[in-house]
Amino acid sequence: MTTQIPVFKPAVGDEEWQALRECFETGWIGLGPKTGEFEKAFGEYIGSPYVVGLNSATSALDLAFKILNIESGEVITTSLTFVSTNHAILYNDCTPVFADVQPDTLTIDPDDVRRKITPRTRAIMAVHYAGHPAEMDALTTLAREHNLALIEDCAHAAGSQYRGQSAGLIGDVGCFSFHAVKNIAMGEGGALVVRTQEQYERAMRLRWCGINRSTWERAKGRSYAWQYDVQELGYKYHLSDLSAAIGLVQLRKAEQHRLARERIWQVYNQAFADLPVVPLAVHDDVKTTYLFYVIRAEQRDNLMAALAEQGIGTSVHYYPNHLFEVYRPYTTSLPETERAGDSIITLPCYPTLTDEQQAHIIAAVRTFYGK
Ligand SMILES: Cc1ncc(COP(=O)(O)O)c(C=O)c1O
Repeated sequence: MTTQIPVFKPAVGDEEWQALRECFETGWIGLGPKTGEFEKAFGEYIGSPYVVGLNSATSALDLAFKILNIESGEVITTSLTFVSTNHAILYNDCTPVFADVQPDTLTIDPDDVRRKITPRTRAIMAVHYAGHPAEMDALTTLAREHNLALIEDCAHAAGSQYRGQSAGLIGDVGCFSFHAVKNIAMGEGGALVVRTQEQYERAMRLRWCGINRSTWERAKGRSYAWQYDVQELGYKYHLSDLSAAIGLVQLRKAEQHRLARERIWQVYNQAFADLPVVPLAVHDDVKTTYLFYVIRAEQRDNLMAALAEQGIGTSVHYYPNHLFEVYRPYTTSLPETERAGDSIITLPCYPTLTDEQQAHIIAAVRTFYGK
């Protein structure tokens, strides 16, 4: 049977269309005023004046290393993440050192991080898995004690908070994704959030090939000023106005999306309470985006096949990175990560999922377990 309920679906509609149309009408669809508008609005949303709009979180993670001047050494990271988190470590000639995850939230385990610190360690990578912030107090303490950078991978966490502080503003930099299935979905997009004016100005140059004035800034005067300088080798990582225009609409709906996902989580959790499945925990001191609904399930692969038969799309977030060929040289024993990798399944959870669809998914899961 073909999939009728996809595992992910971006919640975009007429307002995003209208925003795109307005962008077409201005004739400016590259890096320009909408990008600046989005950066300002997103900055107000999370509480930072230093938001650099990019084309992805992958670019943000890569730039994070450049901004923090990390060019070698070890970075302690999680294996239970999208590969971009760890690719950024390799892009920057560093060595990933995998630490295990906590069983309840699947975020990096600070105790294992502590065990993995060596004189070569330069940074800790904290992924806010499914929007649930990692244990930032413990990680911040470790980073301070050992003089390490703390990089927040906030790809799932636009709108998350840890003890009242926005995700992305706790460590040394925050790296956000606005990819199609994220809480704020642009298609492709991201942001790097830095801490100082100097880092901000450098990141603004690095995202645009190292050029010191954007094309939009140069076009703002009465005549197009062609002069610019390139002070440092940069990258083509900037956000575009088309994506930013969609993002501005999505940003207005971010809290509504978060609450819609929270409700779906609650309904699933109640419906599965008597089944041999364990949902992710949500700690009292966090605000999460509830981006993915993940359960640890007995007979995971059979459950996925049974749901596929019922037209229900599912997925696994994530296949442990240390088992991929490219990461085999860095492989190590990660019992919790591997246990999770063998049992987790992501069920559909998005604002446009209807009650009927969710009831169908719940019935299919319950039937699978003979209930
Ligand atoms: C945890 C995590 N980090 C980084 C990324 C990369 O984000 P992007 O697709 O915007 O490059 C993703 C994307 O799904 C992710 O889930």
